[in-house]
Amino acid sequence: MAYCSKSNSDVDLEKGEILYEEPGYQFIWLGWGKFDEGLIQTNQYLIINNGKGILLDPGGIHIFPKVVANITNYIDLENIKYIFFTHQDPDVSSGLSMWLSVTEASVYISSLWVRFLPHLGITDLSRIKPIEDSGGTLEHARFIPAHFLHSPGFHTLYDQKSKILFSGDIGAAVFSESEKYLFVDDFDTHVKLMEAFHKRYMASSNACRKFISLIRQLDIEMIAPQHGGVFRGKSVKKFIDWLERLKCGSDIIDEISGM
Ligand SMILES: [Fe+2]
Ligand SMILES: [Fe+2]
Repeated sequence: MAYCSKSNSDVDLEKGEILYEEPGYQFIWLGWGKFDEGLIQTNQYLIINNGKGILLDPGGIHIFPKVVANITNYIDLENIKYIFFTHQDPDVSSGLSMWLSVTEASVYISSLWVRFLPHLGITDLSRIKPIEDSGGTLEHARFIPAHFLHSPGFHTLYDQKSKILFSGDIGAAVFSESEKYLFVDDFDTHVKLMEAFHKRYMASSNACRKFISLIRQLDIEMIAPQHGGVFRGKSVKKFIDWLERLKCGSDIIDEISGM
């Protein structure tokens, strides 16, 4: 078994990288989601377990063709059996009707958001599988609740084989057009790209501490967010410690509201 140990200069930002693999099993980052002026960059991931795929936050309509192309380097679309959504945001779910049409996958999302999905153009909810507030399991993965970070119904996915935590918007970094790297090897520099996003989008330090208390029970090798860089090595612990201390959302409501 092996984790990707490439330096950032060797990472293939276009086609993506295998973050972890062992015989019959891969956890794949599907490349740097194409990003135009004003459109946030997104990361998509694919787990392949004995030929069956789980797609994680497959992204919005703009990047659908690129994600499809990169997936098919590894697996046929018909072998994608599950799609996991951390929450309901458009950068996560606006491509849902297209994913339902090109795969036979079941879709897992917080029970809070199921009734909103028909507004994305879906009429048949039979393939939508609600995740309860307390989380759940899917094969070798566990859904770890992270409510209010930032959505009221939000789950992360901990993959027990690779020990990679897919964290969605938690750990997101907002890069400028000229700045691109996959791995967070210098946390102290990287944190400047995360601070504004987390302070404004995450609901409260109370919500952060609850999530941290849940993930401190896990053995985590990498934290893979939906935007920005993937934490590995020492940056994993540094990120967890940082989020545990963060003041955000309702903690700083006066500052946010300008009064
Ligand atoms: Fe979001
Ligand atoms: Fe997002």
